[in-house]
Amino acid sequence: MTHSFDTVIIGAGAAGLFCAGVAGQLGLKVLLLDHSEKVAEKIRISGGGRANFTNRDVTPANFSGENPHFCRSALARYTPRDFTALMERYRIPFHEKHKGQLFCDHSAEDLIQMLLAECAAGGVQRWQPCSIKSIRSPGAAGASCYELDSDRGIIAARSIVVATGGLSIPKIGATDFAYRVARQFGLRVVQPRPALVPLTFDGAGWAPYAQLAGLSLPVQISTGSKKAQTTFLEDLLFTHRGLSGPAVLQISSYWAAGAPIRLNLAPGHDVAQALTRAKTSSRKRIANELAALVPSRLAEAWVQQDSRWQRPVSDAPDKALMLLAERLARWELTPTGTEGYKKAEVTAGGVDTRDLSSQTMESKQPGLYFIGEAVDVTGWLGGYNFQWAWASAFACAQAL
Ligand code: FDA
Repeated sequence: MTHSFDTVIIGAGAAGLFCAGVAGQLGLKVLLLDHSEKVAEKIRISGGGRANFTNRDVTPANFSGENPHFCRSALARYTPRDFTALMERYRIPFHEKHKGQLFCDHSAEDLIQMLLAECAAGGVQRWQPCSIKSIRSPGAAGASCYELDSDRGIIAARSIVVATGGLSIPKIGATDFAYRVARQFGLRVVQPRPALVPLTFDGAGWAPYAQLAGLSLPVQISTGSKKAQTTFLEDLLFTHRGLSGPAVLQISSYWAAGAPIRLNLAPGHDVAQALTRAKTSSRKRIANELAALVPSRLAEAWVQQDSRWQRPVSDAPDKALMLLAERLARWELTPTGTEGYKKAEVTAGGVDTRDLSSQTMESKQPGLYFIGEAVDVTGWLGGYNFQWAWASAFACAQAL
């Protein structure tokens, strides 16, 4: 038996659920399916269970990808204010944490229930768990529309929306489905890679810093060439295997394997001036003077690097103090890798935007759309990835 729909949306995560609700309410007969039993597992675990569902200040500059302008149109047509208006309609309380980040007051579950209610209002049919084994395009073997072989029978639909996300967190159902479908239809895929992910360092080289695991401090972090440098001012977290915290998660999306990252461990402080001044008036050890500017655990570990730094500040040669200040302000190190998809919040890369319409998310294969994280658009930490899911889903739903 063949089940006929106007559109079939594959993947009931953030983008798929939202797209299904909007398309259904526009009058389309929509099937939304997911290979998992539960919908929206990523929304459920996001933002510590409270979902950082958008950001008050969203601009294309908060996104990366081969074409940084691709996201512009969709973001302009569905804004954070549009999404918060929907939350308000459902009386879901939310609050701003910092840097414009908006979270649910109670639970991410409120958001999921809202998206499901929107689907119900649009008469969306949901099939879970349900997997797609193959897709035949219109024209193939006499088919007048797409035909999908699913484990619940054959589905016929005018259009297909692929909303299966990226590869992050495989244990909750991430797959490479979107990339496989793209390749089947001759679309290009930008090599996927883990992003918003902790960075790791060589075991022996990292040994002196492993003792700092658990330490957090504000830093300035950057990567890239002088011409194309990306910089963030955020908190850094030392771990046993390397570096994490918002600073490193943010920079990881811009980091190219083999390239160095640069850290200023005392942003906002003139360390050279502070130490030179202390030299004339203090009998304290350098580490103690430094502890006024950075956490004392870091100060103690930092001075271990050079015997000239392990003495009272008054006895230290000016040159040694200058070197210390310079090293602290420009700590350059090259990660050996990342913690991988197991720990990555998102996947950078994905379906190549050169093969998609920025107005509709339709691919060069007519009737085949890609939305959300499957696309080569990666947002910063702070609610931007969900805003891309809503905005790309909305743009797509208008065009189906
Ligand atoms: P999403 O991954 O949400 O959904 C894809 C769906 O497709 C899933 O339901 C999956 O089961 C299904 N699927 C996959 N393969 C399939 C197949 N072969 N067949 C059928 N179904 C298939 N972002 C943000 O803005 N704020 C935040 O607070 C957070 N926090 C956060 C925490 C953690 C731990 C992670 C891992 C991620 C975040 N994110 C985030 C990122 C955010 O969750 C992510 O960008 C969006 O969920 C992407 O939405 P999509 O709908 O594109 O994919």
